[in-house]
Amino acid sequence: MKSVLIDCDPGLDDAVALLAAFGARSLNVKAITTVAGNVKGPQTAINARIIREAAGRGREIPVCAGAPRPLLRDAVTAEDFHGSTGLGNLPFPSPRLPLSRAHAVNKIIRSCRAAVAAPLTLIVTGPMTNVALALTMAPNITEGIEEIVVMAGADREGGNITPYAEFNVFADPHAAAIVFGAGVPMRCLSLDVTHQIRTTKSRLAQVREIETEQAQIAASLLDASNQLEFSANGARDAPLHDPSTVIAVTRPDLFSGRRVSVSVITEPGEQFGRTVPHSQKDGHIVWYERADSDAVYAALGEHLGAYK
Ligand code: BDR
Ligand code: CA
Repeated sequence: MKSVLIDCDPGLDDAVALLAAFGARSLNVKAITTVAGNVKGPQTAINARIIREAAGRGREIPVCAGAPRPLLRDAVTAEDFHGSTGLGNLPFPSPRLPLSRAHAVNKIIRSCRAAVAAPLTLIVTGPMTNVALALTMAPNITEGIEEIVVMAGADREGGNITPYAEFNVFADPHAAAIVFGAGVPMRCLSLDVTHQIRTTKSRLAQVREIETEQAQIAASLLDASNQLEFSANGARDAPLHDPSTVIAVTRPDLFSGRRVSVSVITEPGEQFGRTVPHSQKDGHIVWYERADSDAVYAALGEHLGAYK
């Protein structure tokens, strides 16, 4: 069992990532921390609590709200792709269980410190504000981190919010620069790879055939994502951004890439928020470039079908 903490901004695809992680037999989700991103901070924290309960989980998995805004830039959100609620305006019941009283940044610091003997994997699917703050406040937490697996950035593919920048990095490029520069082992699911993994009609139908309540919820979230993707930019088959981070943890054999270091363009201008991977034989970051996308959906289905 691998212990993971998930830092996220749900978000339709973050929500599917959470459902996959809770279902995965090989993962022990220790906590969820939330950050402002796809929608404002208070709403991402509500959405994480909604999904915790949809997964049949409770207080044993604390949901901790974090940074309400990026480090330096003005906040940006992505309602066009996630709906005004962040969950595609699907009719979820309000969560019954409260937020943890711990701040997300303190939770990350405490969890990593407690994990030095058996380091923790951080799965990061939103802007990196919380993780950057934790690494800044307590640099020695790296001892308790096995690796950070992050959905962020774009190189060959170009951006999805500007021609150069991917949303999570654009939303807080200064935080991304801190995290990429911290020297912690990382694996990065950028648009270069997530754009290869798309929710086609037949893959969506496969998820719908899985007879768990959580698979049905995931199918509705994926369907909403496809519909919003189409109305926002006319593109069919939304990419499976955030759930791919979970699958990269449970099935790393399905992805391949190269070792790099990554710099982030933080100067104002048209390239603001662009990630630049530099190939390096012993680079501490794996920049994924290819995925076996059928197998990724099969693994997603396996996790969603593993609920009792
Ligand atoms: C990323 O941005 C968000 O809108 C998604 O949740 C994903 O984390 C894709 O660029
Ligand atoms: Ca996200």
